[in-house]
Amino acid sequence: MTGIRLHAPRPGWSVDADVVVVGSGVAGLTVALRCAAAGAHVTVVTKALLDDGSTRWAQGGIAAALGEGDTPEQHLDDTLVAGAGLCDDEAVRTLVTEGPDAVRRLIATGAQFDTDAETGAILLTREGGHHRRRIAHAGGDATGAEISRALVEAVRAAGIETIEHALVLDLLKDEEGRAAGVTLHVMGEGERDGVGAVRARAVVLATGGMGQVFSATTNPAVSTGDGVALALRAGAEVSDLEFVQFHPTVLWLGPDAEGQQPLVSEAVRGEGAHLVDADGHRFMVGAHELAELAPRDIVAKGIMRRMQELGAEHMYLDARHFGAEMWEHRFPTILAACRAHGIDPVTEPIPVAPAAHYASGGVRTDLTGRSTVPGLYACGEVACTGVHGANRLASNSLLEGLVFAERIAADVTEALREPGAPPRPATTGTTTGTTTGTTTGTGTGTVLAGPKARLEIQRIMAEGAGVLRSRESLERATAELARIDEDAAAALEAPGTESWEATNLLLVARVLVAAALRREETRGCHWREDAPDRDDAWRRHLLVTLRPDRTLSVSTTETAAFPSAAAPTPHPPTNGAEPRSTT
Ligand code: SIN
Repeated sequence: MTGIRLHAPRPGWSVDADVVVVGSGVAGLTVALRCAAAGAHVTVVTKALLDDGSTRWAQGGIAAALGEGDTPEQHLDDTLVAGAGLCDDEAVRTLVTEGPDAVRRLIATGAQFDTDAETGAILLTREGGHHRRRIAHAGGDATGAEISRALVEAVRAAGIETIEHALVLDLLKDEEGRAAGVTLHVMGEGERDGVGAVRARAVVLATGGMGQVFSATTNPAVSTGDGVALALRAGAEVSDLEFVQFHPTVLWLGPDAEGQQPLVSEAVRGEGAHLVDADGHRFMVGAHELAELAPRDIVAKGIMRRMQELGAEHMYLDARHFGAEMWEHRFPTILAACRAHGIDPVTEPIPVAPAAHYASGGVRTDLTGRSTVPGLYACGEVACTGVHGANRLASNSLLEGLVFAERIAADVTEALREPGAPPRPATTGTTTGTTTGTTTGTGTGTVLAGPKARLEIQRIMAEGAGVLRSRESLERATAELARIDEDAAAALEAPGTESWEATNLLLVARVLVAAALRREETRGCHWREDAPDRDDAWRRHLLVTLRPDRTLSVSTTETAAFPSAAAPTPHPPTNGAEPRSTT
């Protein structure tokens, strides 16, 4: 146990559960529903409202081998190609073979996908990297919103306890170092406000991504890397954080646009839209056999390259040939977003540029979602199961959340039945200080970054660790982040939501930059201008843990497969580099 935790008041209230699920996207709510169906007492805590996470914003859809002639094997092949040599084969096989039935169970839970009016068959579209139509969608381009609606309704119908507006702070552990719940801060007034604790026998992190670490992102404001930061402070291993996927086609709103930006789904290209420069030239044709439907990293790089060549701030996505009716029926969300910004895709090309979209890395887990801390699970974008490798295949993320949520639920409910299962924490009502059987009152409070640090971190990351990176830009980012950390130590910021979020962003930014600096090659969505080629010696993962003195330990795996045990790896030698380092 590292003993590092956020500087926060002691919990003033507590509740007990068998399982606490942190996050309410497809992953979190699926775990909650399956655990509750197996008889477990589940509490879901979520940072805003139940449907406010990233899932709601997913447009394109959910990929699974559901179509005639498609097979898990073909889905596996496309996933491995996109992952650029770093996928864990077993994790991908699990995803693609269990995926189709997991989608059918999601439909049975109430999610309504778009179907053919005559045959009733699920309509499938294409996205980058898929060699066939494999993406199920709902409401045209509102797939995530429909999945979220169905799961939220099911959770409410099942009577699962939920705590909204709750920012998770830190992991509680028992005397053996097992996860025993979380501390959290509930914003607003009510029965449970301020800092409290949910004590539970298993903790499932499903907190989503960390897109807010960059200035411009498709992620909502709540995506501040809270789960990864919590896991690091709790001593868990994280992996692959250097692989940030930049979505190629995000609506360009000007050079200074900040925060969440409107996504223009790959499905628009899947249905035949063209990427063009200001002269109307289709620059992806000839650059890759799949042209605009090449894997996402290749398209993002193609756009960036053309922007550099022309000194342009963006490229264009041209789908005027769809016509008004298709735009209105197939892509109503995107059409409305474009029109809200004064662009009519029916009559003009859409200005687009890449923006931060998805963290392929996260809390390292095994195939049952277990992290390296006993009793702590991770699922969805916060997790690194090995499925995505160096670049996630489009629309694999909802599927990953679904499949691994079900696996976690099976593992947790099985563990709760075992005779040696950790006892349910005693119900003692309101606590102050040390919670029964758990440690909240000990450990080193970490320094807090001030609220203003958020914008600064975003600027540093956009400039130093964005789509194009180099040793020089990453070293500059390292130094600037270290300066923010030193300022935080000197300033003694008061605890509060903005400071906790900024502190989480600072920690995940440090890890991301350390890993990106160490990986001296270009692979998947990690693009080093000073090391432009893929290097086979780097077909391995970078694993990072946080030391008690808050420095980072960075090591590598021996191969692209994760070590089978979920225990922290013994830090094997690297390819000529130092086996461990302090950052
Ligand atoms: C999109 O619709 O382009 C996003 C889908 C994804 O991120 O998988």
